[in-house]
Amino acid sequence: MRIGFIDSGVGGLSILTTVRAKVPAHYIYVMDNQYLPYGEKSEAFIQSRLAQLSALLIEEGADLIVIACNTATTQAVASLRPQFDVPFVGTVPAIKPAAAQYCQSGFTVLATPATCRSSYLQGLIAEFAPGCPVGTAGSSELVRLAELKVWYQQDVCSAVAAELSRLGLLQQRPAALVLGCTHFPFLKAELAACLPDTVFLDTAEAIARRVHALVAVDGNVTSASEEYRHLYISSGALDERQRVRVAELGFDQYQHWSKPATTC
Ligand code: DGL
Repeated sequence: MRIGFIDSGVGGLSILTTVRAKVPAHYIYVMDNQYLPYGEKSEAFIQSRLAQLSALLIEEGADLIVIACNTATTQAVASLRPQFDVPFVGTVPAIKPAAAQYCQSGFTVLATPATCRSSYLQGLIAEFAPGCPVGTAGSSELVRLAELKVWYQQDVCSAVAAELSRLGLLQQRPAALVLGCTHFPFLKAELAACLPDTVFLDTAEAIARRVHALVAVDGNVTSASEEYRHLYISSGALDERQRVRVAELGFDQYQHWSKPATTC
């Protein structure tokens, strides 16, 4: 069993780690860092780029693809499913569980600008949180800070506080913050230091359960004793520090795949 993951950067690793703990398999992670941040790209660009990356993963033998990116899921997952034979698991902000617990107090979705303005997110809010006070806050700066923290262990605490202040969240102090971007769980410590009374919700566990269920239904349950190889692919070249980090993150192989996007 080979499970493919796609994100623009390191964000999807927050999902992969949780899935990998539950589902023994070969993992292939594609990081499209040449075009990061996705949150500033058009829907047409993301749809065509995701089709290119899905084709790459299928060529590499992926039996299932996790779109480990809320932005790519909200913009492109519906267009991918009819194009390919493999199942796709998408990542969307945890609106349903947030509404179940925090409808009265209200909650805020912290995501990328593209996810915040997507009709997909508006549809989730209308379906699962009707009548609840739901705010949205879009940030590409937090994506950049998560990259700096994961790759270079930079101290991003005061930069995260400045961005939360710019977004008005330090002042609002929401009861719950839905982390609607897979980069943001990497900033949980910094977010919690700024907003100590806020509860943070993400979707990694739900995705791990979904992947586990799909793998089990397909009869592809693999044995934990088998030796697995994990491949990391990036569309932009990695520097020396990043290559070391890829190995530290549990990948045995690294490939640079530099094919440019076909849509601007
Ligand atoms: N990690 C991505 C998400 O979940 C997007 C980050 C970006 O803007 O590239 O939305």
